[in-house]
Amino acid sequence: MDTLLSANESKAEPREAILSVRDVKVVFSGFQAIKGVSLDVGEQEIVTIIGPNGAGKSTLMDAIVGKSPVASGHVYYRGQDITNRSPHAIAHMGIGRKFQNPNVYNELTVFENILLALKGSHGVFASIRAKLTSVKKAKIESVLDRVGLLDKAFTRVSSLSHGQKQWIEIGMVLAQDPAVVLLDEPTAGMTPDETRDTGEIIKMLAQNYSVVVIEHDMEFVKQIAQRIVVLHQGEKLTEGTVQEVQSNPKVIEVYLGRERIDTAA
Ligand SMILES: Nc1ncnc2c1ncn2[C@@H]1O[C@H](COP(=O)(O)OP(=O)(O)O)[C@@H](O)[C@H]1O
Ligand SMILES: [Mg+2]
Repeated sequence: MDTLLSANESKAEPREAILSVRDVKVVFSGFQAIKGVSLDVGEQEIVTIIGPNGAGKSTLMDAIVGKSPVASGHVYYRGQDITNRSPHAIAHMGIGRKFQNPNVYNELTVFENILLALKGSHGVFASIRAKLTSVKKAKIESVLDRVGLLDKAFTRVSSLSHGQKQWIEIGMVLAQDPAVVLLDEPTAGMTPDETRDTGEIIKMLAQNYSVVVIEHDMEFVKQIAQRIVVLHQGEKLTEGTVQEVQSNPKVIEVYLGRERIDTAA
């Protein structure tokens, strides 16, 4: 608890925003999934997004990375308007996003999977046959170290656990040299130990990247959270520290209270 408090206190000073979402709306055939949300992500900050199912959390990430069209409002990256640019262009600029389901090559090693994800890789066989430069090798090792898989570098992915495959996917995002890393429910399907390890990985990542995490598990949120944004029905209900959010009556009503009832049932 002490560490939690000090982690929350230490983030109190404002940081320069690297990613800014301004009054963004996303509409799916008349249905407003995001109804004017604003959000800032600072350099090397962890922002956690929570909210009930259907709140619009994934859609907000989709809007940031150019996967869902922004109907109005703006997304800025390092002060530059990137609203509705192509997903490829946005990824290339420095916003990396991990999707929920691991999408890894099971028959290849962990090392080869990261190699394929490196910027400028051209196809599976060409990449694997190409002479590995020492720069690339060092890069892959540094990525594997960051996601805790250095000792599994030459293990075939098929023999790894679900959680380890999720970490490879995070590594594949890092291999693209992002400045901002977006993680949509990174602990889905993980064991409690893997979930805790993922929290430690994310805290380490924040030493080098800005991280936005969508998460359900409140224990995990407490482990990693600096600033929490609560979404509900496409709107930002509130944002603040773990303590602020947990004691907010609106949040208890729409989310935390309901979760407690769900868990008890
Ligand atoms: N591609 C889509 N087309 C139509 N409706 C969508 C689409 N994607 C999401 N939605 C709707 O938008 C709302 C928000 O969904 P989503 O962002 O996935 O919520 P969350 O991630 O918070 O659970 C939901 O009502 C969902 O059904
Ligand atoms: Mg979602």
